[in-house]
Amino acid sequence: CRPGFNLRITFPLMLSVGTAVIGSLQFGYNTGVINAPQKIIEKFINETYFERYQEPISKTTLTAIWSVAVSIFSVGGIVGSFSVGLFVNRFGRRNSMLMANVLAFIAAALMGFSKIAHSWEMLIVGRFVVGLYSGLSTGFVPMYVGEISPTALRGALGTFHQLGIVVGILIAQVFGMEAIMGNDDLWPLLLGFIFILALIQCILLPLCPKSPRFLLINRNEENKAKAVLKKLRGTTDVSSDMQEMKEESRQMMREKKVTIPELFRSHLYRQPLLIAVVLQLSQQLSGINAVFYYSTRIFEKAGVEQPVYATIGAGVVNTAFTVVSLFIVERAGRRSLHMLGLLGMAVSAVLMTIAMALLDQLKWMSYLSIVAIFAFVAFFELGPGPIPWFIVAELFSQGPRPSAFAVAGFSNWTANFIVGMTFQYVEELCGPYVFIIFTVLLLFFLVFTYFKVPETKGRTFDEITAGFRQTAATGGEKNSPEELNSLGADSPL
Ligand code: GLC
Repeated sequence: CRPGFNLRITFPLMLSVGTAVIGSLQFGYNTGVINAPQKIIEKFINETYFERYQEPISKTTLTAIWSVAVSIFSVGGIVGSFSVGLFVNRFGRRNSMLMANVLAFIAAALMGFSKIAHSWEMLIVGRFVVGLYSGLSTGFVPMYVGEISPTALRGALGTFHQLGIVVGILIAQVFGMEAIMGNDDLWPLLLGFIFILALIQCILLPLCPKSPRFLLINRNEENKAKAVLKKLRGTTDVSSDMQEMKEESRQMMREKKVTIPELFRSHLYRQPLLIAVVLQLSQQLSGINAVFYYSTRIFEKAGVEQPVYATIGAGVVNTAFTVVSLFIVERAGRRSLHMLGLLGMAVSAVLMTIAMALLDQLKWMSYLSIVAIFAFVAFFELGPGPIPWFIVAELFSQGPRPSAFAVAGFSNWTANFIVGMTFQYVEELCGPYVFIIFTVLLLFFLVFTYFKVPETKGRTFDEITAGFRQTAATGGEKNSPEELNSLGADSPL
């Protein structure tokens, strides 16, 4: 049996993955929660302003306060994701996740009590703090899940991070409806709700094992690592997993812990770093969050009568296709699914543009726009949604992994911030043709993936990095994906 080719899905494994992805759920929830109750929270800001200054707030000030409240979340994400490396080697993966919940509690309190305290500042600081938590989660969760998963299930279990995010977005969309919590009385509860998720994670995390790779490779605690693996794999024979980790550990003796500047300097990591960063950019610059931040507005412009329901529809399609990806990613592979997703998104973006451009002449174009947006979202979740997150763990070995997550997360969140901030302005400039920009970017990322990204499906961490090491040793001559694929591993399936 090849290392890690144990397909048993045990209870401890699912408990650990399920508990970790509560972090992803928080990220998704806070991404989606601010969309629906915009008008109601703006009313609160307006009233508070009036109380303080005895005059109504100007439109520009209100827009500015609102934009800051929305986008400071990504600023927190940028800072948080970049700090991942400070925690994971010192405290371990699991304990880092546990500690991060302090931030979630603080954020819940700040946002939940902002109305009683008559302070929109608390709301803004709370959004920043929960952004910090979410940024940390986008490193901690895929790293932990990647390190506890058996090789043959790493992609499927890695997709649970994205599943957590999309379910979080969907829950937020539903809870944010006026009839539920998106109203004058309950919006503080809508934002403070994350308290409950943090509490559940704090109760469950101590029941989850620490990462066996952290125990063996970073701490040299062989017996503990073995015990954890036996639990996770549900078998007493974990020799193949142990052997693979020891091999990685031997490599690590040479690599040691790799800092972020070292990661950039060493030619060993140039190729995987480029791939990791470009894949993150392909996820964000695909334009997905233009849809998730502004879908209601886009649907409105496209002449859809019930835009809020169409937005929730997009959330449902989003979740459904993440589940599809989860089931096919181990068979279809990362590379092909990513390419299929990017191509499908590019075609959908063209359809969307046609629908928007012809709306005045043909009323039924509003239906085409719904179909196009749903298809855009569906193709996103097949590949560009889940794959960039978990592939970082696959592209790097234990030494450089934390720094690689920091750089990848930083790229992702920065691109997220840029799209969120600029989309509305660019849309004003380009009108119905705004999605053509994303089409061009999508095609670029498609070509990049075709030429540069190797298939990582079914290969151990060690085999994947061995492939890159050999590429670096040959001075980058062998860098087509086919050649990388043939290095370090024969096809396992
Ligand atoms: C990905 C992105 C996130 C986006 C989500 C949509 O997780 O990182 O920014 O909102 O997918 O499903």
